[in-house]
Amino acid sequence: MNKPNLAVNIGGVDMQNPVTTASGTFGFGPEYSRYIDINELGAVVVKGTTLHPREGNATPRIVETPSGILNSIGLQNPGVDYVIEHYVPYFKTLRVPVIVNISGDTVEDYAKVAEKLDAAGGIAGLEVNISCPNVKKGGMAFGSDPAMAAEVTAAVKSAAKLPVVVKLSPNVTDITAVAEAVAEAGADGLSLINTLLGMAIDINSRRPILGSVMGGLSGPAVKPVAVRAVWQVYKAVQLPIIGMGGISTAEDALEFILAGASAVAVGTANFVNPRATMDIIAGIERYLIDNGVKDVNELVGAAHGN
Ligand code: FUM
Repeated sequence: MNKPNLAVNIGGVDMQNPVTTASGTFGFGPEYSRYIDINELGAVVVKGTTLHPREGNATPRIVETPSGILNSIGLQNPGVDYVIEHYVPYFKTLRVPVIVNISGDTVEDYAKVAEKLDAAGGIAGLEVNISCPNVKKGGMAFGSDPAMAAEVTAAVKSAAKLPVVVKLSPNVTDITAVAEAVAEAGADGLSLINTLLGMAIDINSRRPILGSVMGGLSGPAVKPVAVRAVWQVYKAVQLPIIGMGGISTAEDALEFILAGASAVAVGTANFVNPRATMDIIAGIERYLIDNGVKDVNELVGAAHGN
């Protein structure tokens, strides 16, 4: 069999294969360039970027859990102007699309960051993070209210011409209500899921371990929740989905694709195996060849049976 087609399109972002990185697990890209050839990814999604630099939350910020980690980083980042000056020139050297994850305390913050990145060039799309569980303002507070989620989406859409992918939170009763609201507001794609709100307690000190008490759970433990969310959102809206949540292997990635994801993002697995993305791309291609599938797009949502 000839090489199968691995190329997918997420709301106007052309990817040579369906595998990207989950924001916050891959720095701004160069951090991983000694482990993998970044140009072999489908796309790179970089760390959450805000209008002003952020130092992040009090330490400790990471706790290992069975089959996962809790993090409460708090959107530590150098701010959008620094990203434009120091990382955008690097983005421009890459042959794969770079998607910048953006966050804000206010709707206006999101719009300003989007406008600056749009003007900078070298960026293929924006991932609007309305789902970070680790900040007091913005983040999950926006993403758990369909009306606020729509307002942020509309503001970013009018501030930037770039494709806009909105990152959804699993910490809601009905993820499809938020998906429908942001689709209505003009989103070009969706990414899901962000982390699940959790906490851990040190039984010796009898205190919460994380400096900010609660954090976001990621890793293999969350995968069934994420697959369920992709399944529901695929049925509810007609937007391309980047699925994520505990993807460590090609088999995991294929589950998300069959549930309805057109692309997948690898997150926590990068910390365990910095070459996980490469192994997953190769494994998806092997599966297509072994099963006589000519185009990965044929598998998107195939588990729904239609
Ligand atoms: O705390 C953080 O920086 C995580 C962000 C997120 O989960 O979106």
